[in-house]
Amino acid sequence: MSPPGRPETDRGSSEHSAKQVSAPAVELRGLSYAYPDGTPALSDVDVCIAHGEAVAVVGANGAGKSTLLQHLNGLLLPNQGEVAIDGLPVTRATLPRVRRSVGFVFQDADDQLFMPTVRDDVAFGPSNQGLQAQQVQARVSAALEAVGAAHLAKRAPYRLSGGEKRAVAIAGVLAMEPSILVLDEPSSGLDPAGRRRLIELLRSFSMTRVIATHDLDLVLAVCKRVLVMHEGRVVADGSPIDLFADLALLRRCHLEPPLGGTGGAGPAR
Ligand SMILES: Nc1ncnc2c1ncn2[C@@H]1O[C@H](COP(=O)(O)OP(=O)(O)OP(=O)(O)O)[C@@H](O)[C@H]1O
Ligand SMILES: [Mg+2]
Repeated sequence: MSPPGRPETDRGSSEHSAKQVSAPAVELRGLSYAYPDGTPALSDVDVCIAHGEAVAVVGANGAGKSTLLQHLNGLLLPNQGEVAIDGLPVTRATLPRVRRSVGFVFQDADDQLFMPTVRDDVAFGPSNQGLQAQQVQARVSAALEAVGAAHLAKRAPYRLSGGEKRAVAIAGVLAMEPSILVLDEPSSGLDPAGRRRLIELLRSFSMTRVIATHDLDLVLAVCKRVLVMHEGRVVADGSPIDLFADLALLRRCHLEPPLGGTGGAGPAR
């Protein structure tokens, strides 16, 4: 099995393809989760995400964003309720197929990078997809270029700065060309130019994107839909412009309205 953030590499059958066409990209039904130590983290979450949507997940520290995201590729399995990806219920048995579709960029890039060089790390996924060496190299170069990290190709991932590691971790997932991209706090720790590049990159994608973030300007620029989480529940689901103008909602959920509009990028297209 691939590392947990990487889409899986076995090709499997296409038995599920008919369902994939009609089913939503992501469906959470009555999802509840408590960690093994008993800490409750998600409570009765119902969410449906269509193919190609860019959906932000916002909420205060501890609201349940990362826990929710980790259910999308089976890093966590529900205590109650159901998670389905392209109509396929996420269970231990379906993990390889689920992870073929879902690319997951961790909140902490150290959880994701493990090869001796950046180039090897980004090549790991596509190499295991059975692509030819030339195709792998093309994917690696394109992914590193996209995140502005081409100059880091020969470096050791563990010797990079936090922002550099994050860029490389994103490249490693992009190189697998997942149909659903899940990112946990992708802009944290990036400098302004890196953040701007990330926003433009995320705006340019057409695949389904689910992005947990505290960066409300990124939300405005990239996502037409935002889920607001509070104490393990999704308490609001709507357009960022509408929800970020609801000061009572923001206050109740310990959030602040965005300061800088869309950072000059314009609202999500
Ligand atoms: N491994 C764990 N074991 C026990 N409880 C956990 C674990 N990870 C998270 N929690 C708890 O689950 C709840 C939700 O945490 P989660 O990490 O999903 O929040 P978050 O919204 O991602 O927060 P942040 O903005 O700080 O990243 C919190 O109460 C947290 O303390
Ligand atoms: Mg988190």
